[in-house]
Amino acid sequence: MVQLLTSFGAILVAFVIIQSMPKESNGSNILGVFTSHSPSHLIVHMSIMRTLAERGHNVTVLSSMPPKVTHENIKHIVVPLSAEDEKVLDEGMSGMVKTKQSFLSMMNSASKSQSILMYKQVEVLEDPRFKELYLNKDNKFDVVFFGFFFNTYQVALGARFNCPVIMSWCGPPMPLVNELLGNPELSSVPQMHVAVAPGQPMNFKKRLHNLASNIGFSMFNIYLNRKNQLFYDRLWGIDPSMPSFEEAKQNVSLAFFNGHSLSEGPIRPNVPAVIEIGGIQIKSKPDPLPKDIKEFLDMANYGAVLFSLGSNLKGEHIPPEIVTTIFKALSSIKQQVIWKWEDIEKVPGKSANILYKNWLPQDDILAHPNVKLFITHAGKGGVSEALFHGVPMLALPVFADQPGTADKLVENGYGLRLELAILKEKQFKAAIKEIIENPKYTQKAKTFSQLYSDRPLSAQESVVYWTEYVIRHRGAPHMQSSLVKMGFVASNNLDIYILALVVLYILFVVNKIFWKFVWRKVFGEPKIDSQNNQKKRE
Ligand SMILES: *[C@@H]1O[C@H](CO)[C@@H](O)[C@H](O)[C@H]1NC(C)=O
Ligand SMILES: *[C@@H]1O[C@H](CO)[C@@H](O)[C@H](O)[C@H]1NC(C)=O
Repeated sequence: MVQLLTSFGAILVAFVIIQSMPKESNGSNILGVFTSHSPSHLIVHMSIMRTLAERGHNVTVLSSMPPKVTHENIKHIVVPLSAEDEKVLDEGMSGMVKTKQSFLSMMNSASKSQSILMYKQVEVLEDPRFKELYLNKDNKFDVVFFGFFFNTYQVALGARFNCPVIMSWCGPPMPLVNELLGNPELSSVPQMHVAVAPGQPMNFKKRLHNLASNIGFSMFNIYLNRKNQLFYDRLWGIDPSMPSFEEAKQNVSLAFFNGHSLSEGPIRPNVPAVIEIGGIQIKSKPDPLPKDIKEFLDMANYGAVLFSLGSNLKGEHIPPEIVTTIFKALSSIKQQVIWKWEDIEKVPGKSANILYKNWLPQDDILAHPNVKLFITHAGKGGVSEALFHGVPMLALPVFADQPGTADKLVENGYGLRLELAILKEKQFKAAIKEIIENPKYTQKAKTFSQLYSDRPLSAQESVVYWTEYVIRHRGAPHMQSSLVKMGFVASNNLDIYILALVVLYILFVVNKIFWKFVWRKVFGEPKIDSQNNQKKRE
């Protein structure tokens, strides 16, 4: 008994000591640089920053948009786009809705808006408000984050601030990010937009698609690398204190990916520097809903539908006849509908079962038990939220990675997909009815939800652990994949293959000479030769 008490006392004392110990890397100075002009990307990056701020770190963030997610420990610096640039991006966006998506048109539209988005990101880093961060000698950062969006030159932020650098990417592993981590890219490993059901082989068509996009990405990467080199030179080329772009590219400690491959795929090998934090933007417990939304959902006896095409695509980008089709369909179903629509003054039409909202607490709405269906553009964030809460989906993907995400959710049985640009009322209504009335979609989504949340560390815990790990060890060169420092030739063993060919050829030649020699010894000189010799002697 006494023994039990003493050991209990010892445990208690140890516990008190541990609790009162200063947490080693708490209160670190963390900088986040998120120049990509995409609200959904910023939500993911800011959710990482908020997690670190909640942990007690001193977080400074620079972005080109005011953030929706924030925290009192975050000092935010916004370098906004000009009104003109906003307009150009807006127009690019509505152009994309009008064309049905093929891989080519996807690449085409992506590359158009990309070049605007790329140039703007460089300008953010040329802004005095950014320069102040490193020119002011009182600023000292323990780690710097950058949000990846075709801006590889930003790997140099580590050297700029003389601290380790961590990348944040809002999707699963993809070639341009993998390159910086030495994460293997094999044609046998499915790309992020090639949907393969768990445990199923890739058929011929999928392998062809996969290999083609693998090669496509490599080509694209060559082009991007050239662009990035130019941006790098423009920003830091004449600065003798900065490393070369090639050197800087070999110095990324690790990257956070907003994905969870165990439940979402792709099932593929990843190096230890790939840290998955899928669902970081999702609150583990929903906040209370605004009163009007809560009442609207509570009284949905037949269930409710949430309809949102995300934050990039505004209602005015969608052709009016499509909006009319959508309205006709949604106003004639018995479910309550919450429709995300920016211009509350000019709604597509009035109906008792439709509530228009220009801003939605989407995550909290999806958590409501009456929500039976989410009609979505299949953006990564929204899809994760719906799956987290076990809500099936009807996908209307528009551009970028959305068609791939939509295919994947259809393949996994979480819902259906239609084309927004050619949407028909009858077919739209039939799809809504099918998903709500056939229980298989909801069941699949609920099963996923259980797998998604079953992890050794939650997304938030992973962010804290791995960020502090990098801070504690001043970077993570010890866990860097050797592929990072191997060029194309070495990482594909091309030199070894060439050497092997040369050796084989030499062996072949030596062999030939040897047997010729043996032949002569055994059978004497070949006849032709001796005849010739005789002629010569005559
Ligand atoms: C937080 O970090 C910023 C940037 O390094 C620094 O200027 C500021 O003094 C820090 N605040 C605290 C309380 O450490
Ligand atoms: C590499 O990272 C370390 C911190 O981990 C930093 O001090 C150094 O300047 C970086 N070097 C290059 C070449 O970027």
